Amino acid sequence: MNEKIDGNQPMEAGDHLPVPDNMRRMNDPDGSAFIKGICGDSMEMYLIIKDDRVVEATFFTDGCSASRACGSTAARLASGKSLKDVLRISPADIIDAWGEIPGGNVHCAILAVSTLHKALADFLIRAQRG
Ligand code: FES
Repeated sequence: MNEKIDGNQPMEAGDHLPVPDNMRRMNDPDGSAFIKGICGDSMEMYLIIKDDRVVEATFFTDGCSASRACGSTAARLASGKSLKDVLRISPADIIDAWGEIPGGNVHCAILAVSTLHKALADFLIRAQRG
């Protein structure tokens, strides 16, 4: 495991991975998104944005350990970043953070980042509409 991702547990822990501390829904986010993945699991992302920077990001999923790990990592990578830098986050960043994603669950990283970017798009559309 890459030690720069604080709070995540090794994915070898399988489905016993503890619930990450950033796995929670928000009541009044500035941007949010929900995507149901091709595997049938869902991913949600919630963003608080101030001065074109993500000050807080959380996620929620009904998926497996890999989904929780990827959602948590996507939210952690987004926190504190400018909107432009959030757009630069890719599924490869999540895979790099973990070293690899066991079980062929790379699609979990794609789902997490897609949902993150959709939440950012939600914020941008809301801002445009005023
Ligand atoms: Fe479905 Fe990970 S998102 S297995």
